[in-house]
Amino acid sequence: MAELKPPILEVKNLSQHFTTGRGKKRLAVKAVDDVSFEVYTQETFGLVGESGCGKTTTGRTIIRLYDPTAGQVLFDGWDISRPMNKKLRRFLSDNIAMIFQDPIESLNPRMTIEEIVGEGLFVRGEQDKAKVRKLVYETLDLVGLTQEHATRYPHEFSGGQRQRVGIARAIIVKPKLIIADEPVSALDVSIQAQVINLLNDLKQELGLTILFVAHNLSVVKYFSDRIGVMYYGKMVEIANAADLYENPLHPYTRALLSAIPEPNPRYSISGNRVDYDPARDHDYSAEQPSMREVLPNHFVYCSQGEYERFKLKVSL
Ligand SMILES: Nc1ncnc2c1ncn2[C@@H]1O[C@H](COP(=O)(O)OP(=O)(O)OP(=O)(O)O)[C@@H](O)[C@H]1O
Ligand SMILES: [Mg+2]
Repeated sequence: MAELKPPILEVKNLSQHFTTGRGKKRLAVKAVDDVSFEVYTQETFGLVGESGCGKTTTGRTIIRLYDPTAGQVLFDGWDISRPMNKKLRRFLSDNIAMIFQDPIESLNPRMTIEEIVGEGLFVRGEQDKAKVRKLVYETLDLVGLTQEHATRYPHEFSGGQRQRVGIARAIIVKPKLIIADEPVSALDVSIQAQVINLLNDLKQELGLTILFVAHNLSVVKYFSDRIGVMYYGKMVEIANAADLYENPLHPYTRALLSAIPEPNPRYSISGNRVDYDPARDHDYSAEQPSMREVLPNHFVYCSQGEYERFKLKVSL
């Protein structure tokens, strides 16, 4: 792994709680609960966990589609969790772009590819149509599409091509950070690798930093420099990718890893279930867990007793 550069994104004790329903049916959902992590400049940070663990909410809170319930987010040292105003809105849209899971739902069917990809520039106040067109063409080229695609509409494209359009729309404004929320999970497996390779190439070419959200560890395995694992709104483990695969310490990470579908036919498919039960796997009656650094840059959400066991385990 390349030497770590300074963090571009610092998420500190971030919480996003939703309340749903009224009266007796009122329910508080701690979608993100006291989550902290850093994303270093030009790395890919994979955020993984099963459906509903709070990955999307984390991304959406960072770019301020939601106001955080608590905590702070710094980007390049700037507080982007402060009360919203025009200047902050502009700062966010200049620096952070999002790629969504479903390329068909996230692209307006009535807009041409040129309009979709160029929109961010017009929103910024760019009025020179020829200049926007030129940039759109250049960006289409960067994502493996051509000028001929510019006049077409989203429904004329395959899933993989549509996601290329989504990527073009995100990178045309030259953001420093891309939040890619399950960008390949709606695509055929054969296409997934192409889109991931494209993101990887663009990352190198444009010096991007990527926060890559996935619910399957196998997707982020080769692509991420570091990985954070979430469970029910909590971050339970953060480590560099190789370390996480070699020394998964939190029982949830271990369960998630052993649930990766194994292409080897000798393994049974029943291995796909994530076998984790907090009540069975932890005893927090005496002490609540917190994030602890078990190995350098390898953090686990654990109690002191677990920490000591993990320390012993990694030293063997
Ligand atoms: N706008 C909202 N209002 C109320 N509850 C919400 C809202 N958005 C998300 N939630 C709840 O917060 C929790 C986390 O949801 P989130 O979409 O962040 O999970 P996720 O990890 O992205 O899951 P998936 O892998 O299915 O995309 C879930 O329980 C979800 O129902
Ligand atoms: Mg999601």
